[in-house]
Amino acid sequence: MNDFFTLSFRSNITLSIEPEQILLRSPQHSLTLEYPKPGLKTALEHLKHSALTMPQLIAVVAELDGIDDGAIFETESHKLIKLGWICHSVLPLATAIPIAENYQFNLPDVETFHETSLQRFALSRFAFLHQDDGQFVLESPLSKSKIVLLDWRVAGLIAKLGQSNSKLTIDTFGDIGIGAESIQKLLALLMATEMIVIEPEDSTISQWKLHNLLFHRQTRKKLDSSSKSTIPIFEERDRYPIVKPPMSDRVIPLDKPDLVKLAQTDVSLTQAIESRQSIREYGDRAIAISQLAEFLYRCARVKEVYTHEPDPMCIGEATKRPYPSGGALYELEIYPIINQCTGLDSGLYHYQPLSHTLHQISDWNPDVETLVFDAWKSTGQQDIPQVLLIITARFGRLFWKYHDIGYGLILKHIGVLYQTFYLVATAMQLAPTAIGAGNSEQFCQVAHLNEYEESSVGEFALGSLKD
Ligand SMILES: Cc1cc2nc3c(=O)[nH]c(=O)nc-3n(C[C@H](O)[C@H](O)[C@H](O)COP(=O)(O)O)c2cc1C
Repeated sequence: MNDFFTLSFRSNITLSIEPEQILLRSPQHSLTLEYPKPGLKTALEHLKHSALTMPQLIAVVAELDGIDDGAIFETESHKLIKLGWICHSVLPLATAIPIAENYQFNLPDVETFHETSLQRFALSRFAFLHQDDGQFVLESPLSKSKIVLLDWRVAGLIAKLGQSNSKLTIDTFGDIGIGAESIQKLLALLMATEMIVIEPEDSTISQWKLHNLLFHRQTRKKLDSSSKSTIPIFEERDRYPIVKPPMSDRVIPLDKPDLVKLAQTDVSLTQAIESRQSIREYGDRAIAISQLAEFLYRCARVKEVYTHEPDPMCIGEATKRPYPSGGALYELEIYPIINQCTGLDSGLYHYQPLSHTLHQISDWNPDVETLVFDAWKSTGQQDIPQVLLIITARFGRLFWKYHDIGYGLILKHIGVLYQTFYLVATAMQLAPTAIGAGNSEQFCQVAHLNEYEESSVGEFALGSLKD
């Protein structure tokens, strides 16, 4: 099986050969080899510039440096594979590129390719094809590689594998126009990279949906994620300022609570944490505008505007608020929908955390009502929320810096904001309940948002306590 694949360095591995040393460098690691022999130099140049199989590379080293050095080269090259520096290819059809640390390329044994074993082959339900940067790529959150399809016929092979077929033989692939030997090599490549599964899934994996596992993998550290060598710059900061510009001129100024007095009269943190609970039934007397004003002020206002010093990412101004936020970028926005609130007309509003004002976007209408109705259905159809807080994210304030982990970070921010909502509502004797899902498309329509620029990512119901 060793000679099935040609080996080459990943494109971001640099090789500099000097008379007395060789320097190999990836974005994360570097390796210096002192006083290299000619065979080693030649083999590394082959890895950089051409593609030979492992036996061919060993032969190059053995011929120039001796048989013992050939064996050492084989052992050492496995360390490079584990570092994720080496691609395995079935040329000219496909290349497996490492994307994760502690890389594994598990060569299947020859037995696996007996006709009877082949019948147990199946494409992993986690494998998916997509276009990336002009290439057609097979990926899977269970795999530490991505496979670049160099020939469209490989997509045909993958399609056939995907149609679970208990009578799979090499002949099954006869009509895609790739020879039997290459088919066998491709199957070995897909197996070594865990795109093909043989055994039934174990029960811990069977609970996972593709999107959840992919999201999990993509939002944890990866081989490529730490490879950004340049500091990101917030180029669109004028488009995504610290607070969103007013969304309407129907402005409702809100009172500010006396925090000094509250600090003396509030319940203790322990009491707030211990008595916090989700409450979905409300008092006959609706929440009042002064309570909503105090709640928003205590949870989400801008406490301070400051400038980063030094400011290598060109963030410019930043804000301090009661809840924490990754990079202090504060991408979340709050849109209260007022169903019943004494002193405030029903309708959809946007909260401006710097001026501590509400800006009415629309009156109560059937579309707004649908959003509240959805929230009522999601909270066990008890009382209809008096106030529904819809939280959106302005993605552009975060994605320029946090790329792959950006969406995961937004969900974490929702979590800390929810807990702040819960504790402040408890201290204020209001009825809070977080809501797990809402209709983003509908909300974006009602609020006139481009869903890819800003969209709802969380909902929270609030009301007065039952007497
Ligand atoms: C992220 C999150 C999502 C939630 N989603 C809902 C929901 O959709 N509907 C609902 O009635 N309660 C929802 N809840 C409230 C939970 O049901 C509640 O916290 C849990 O039952 C524990 O009860 P407690 O909050 O009274 O301690 C959610 C809570 C959190 C933290």
